[in-house]
Amino acid sequence: MKRVEDKVIIVTGAASGLGLADAKALIAEGAKVIMTDIDAEKGDSLASEIGGIFFAQDVSNESSWSELMKFVENKFARLDGLVNNAGIAPIANIEEVTTQSWREVINIHLDGTFWGCQSAIKLMKINGGGSIVNMSSTAALIGLGSYVAYSAAKGGIRSMSKSIAIHCRQNKLNIRCNSVHPGSISTPMVHHALKTLVGKDLLAEEDPEETRKEMGIGEPSDVAHMIVYLMSNESKHITGTEMVIDNGDTVI
Ligand SMILES: NC(=O)c1ccc[n+]([C@@H]2O[C@H](COP(=O)([O-])OP(=O)(O)OC[C@H]3O[C@@H](n4cnc5c(N)ncnc54)[C@H](O)[C@@H]3O)[C@@H](O)[C@H]2O)c1
Repeated sequence: MKRVEDKVIIVTGAASGLGLADAKALIAEGAKVIMTDIDAEKGDSLASEIGGIFFAQDVSNESSWSELMKFVENKFARLDGLVNNAGIAPIANIEEVTTQSWREVINIHLDGTFWGCQSAIKLMKINGGGSIVNMSSTAALIGLGSYVAYSAAKGGIRSMSKSIAIHCRQNKLNIRCNSVHPGSISTPMVHHALKTLVGKDLLAEEDPEETRKEMGIGEPSDVAHMIVYLMSNESKHITGTEMVIDNGDTVI
């Protein structure tokens, strides 16, 4: 028996970085994974490559959530897991951020996660429970000076996840909700940040893997292992918690 055998799990933002690694790891452990992303071309081709099912979605559009849940209900008549992972990270501090950029970040991360949780709970109740993971960040715990909107959104995701966990527990829904807080992990999002903020092109290094390790940057599978655990019944006693994956960055 695999760790998430036959579980029906949605991963958003699954055409790149952490979402793609999560989808691969969940599929390898027996899950039926619905991979969603705004980049339909890439998402569709990656899903066929790794054995997922692609659904084009913009998480910041409320109606995309009801369409997604209708699709999942018609196909599987159940939902066991949701990983709210899709996100963007525009670099802007409090003095330079525009209202438009602020709203876009809040809309994708906070509204998207809110709609995802609300619509998933409805479907999870049909089969008597489920597991929700909301992708936050260490930015939610310490704040990042160059990312004011991102830090605010990730902080909101952290406390929203706890509120959802308490509600589900009090109402005996058998639905768990946890937030995950990675530090720097080697994905296109972080490669862009490194280039812009420190002028380092990680992928152009002679040995990118060695440089990644030297810089204390994690790899996507470091997060994917946690996602498999939180989606599996192994974590049945874990809800409302915040899982930090940062090699101790926030404690030193
Ligand atoms: N990489 C890190 O170090 C790190 C650290 C902490 C948190 N995170 C979080 O992890 C998540 C994934 O980040 P990543 O590093 O893999 O980034 P990434 O840029 O590699 O991937 C993000 C994916 O989300 C998709 N996406 C963007 N906007 C979307 C929308 N509106 N609707 C649907 N899909 C959309 C993109 O197309 C892309 O495929 C994000 O929420 C990010 O904030 C990443």
